[in-house]
Amino acid sequence: MPKLNRITRTAGALLVGAALLAGCTKAAPASTTAPSAQDAKKDQPVQADPSLKPAVIASPEAPPRPPQGKTVEVRLTVEKRSLEVAPGWKREVWTYNGQVPGPTIRVNQGDTVKITLVNGDATSHSIDFHAARISPQAAFKSVDTGKDLTFEFKANDPGVFDYHCGTAPALMHIANGMFGAIIVDPAEGRSPAREYVLVQNEWYRDPMDLKDMEYGQPVAMAFNGIANQYVDKPLQARAGERVRLYVANPGPNRFSAFHVVGTIFDRLEEDGNPKNAAYGVQTYTVPPGGASLFETTIQEPGKYPVVTHSFADATLGALAVLEVTP
Ligand code: CU
Ligand code: CU
Repeated sequence: MPKLNRITRTAGALLVGAALLAGCTKAAPASTTAPSAQDAKKDQPVQADPSLKPAVIASPEAPPRPPQGKTVEVRLTVEKRSLEVAPGWKREVWTYNGQVPGPTIRVNQGDTVKITLVNGDATSHSIDFHAARISPQAAFKSVDTGKDLTFEFKANDPGVFDYHCGTAPALMHIANGMFGAIIVDPAEGRSPAREYVLVQNEWYRDPMDLKDMEYGQPVAMAFNGIANQYVDKPLQARAGERVRLYVANPGPNRFSAFHVVGTIFDRLEEDGNPKNAAYGVQTYTVPPGGASLFETTIQEPGKYPVVTHSFADATLGALAVLEVTP
């Protein structure tokens, strides 16, 4: 079983490596604090039952924009799976459609979104869409094992929004992987760009330890469920190409100080709404329960670290690399 230190050291080394690749001279040092004997047990991340089916690896690429004026039907099945969220730590996760984050849903402003939630897990679950204006008592209610629930809403507000399980304790359901993002394209559309979706979250050591989620320290952090996954396999872009990042933060607790080392956001849209545009931004907060859209065009080829500038969290794995080629 891996120890906390091993995971943080690995992540720390990757952070240093990524920062050096980008030409930084300083990076956050890896944690070197050894756990005391009494803390040793608490530092053991809890491993998944080996018989659990492995989760599907979520894609960082944004799905294509669908044709306008349709009812978009989405079926999401809740299932328990295992996912190697950090080296050596195969963790139990609660998923939508077998993946963490759940599938990125994409619709147009004005479309009707029809959601069917199917509960294939042994405990109750639900789904809460931040993109909806709807009575939560009816649409976001808990669904028992083996049951399903269908509801619909009109996606009238353009943007990028979180969705997540809201079944009590929601903290635990979100901390165990039940979240994803929905993109609502503005009716007028957007300019062409290379588009990625990055969902930042925390992983706590024991899926059932609510106290640790309330007061504790995450063991790992991630973009799209797996710590540092885009350090080894960087996201790709061409020099001079517009890159659009949809960044969601289901948390459940940490704010993201979203930043790309070596560039500036030409434009961002808070919540992905074109009316909330800002220009020339270095770092921008994505709060738990929030999401925003970031655009940058990089001219010089290189490896550009994508981080939360809360470096303790980047060191735990909320770190990616955007590789820009000529
Ligand atoms: Cu749930
Ligand atoms: Cu919420």
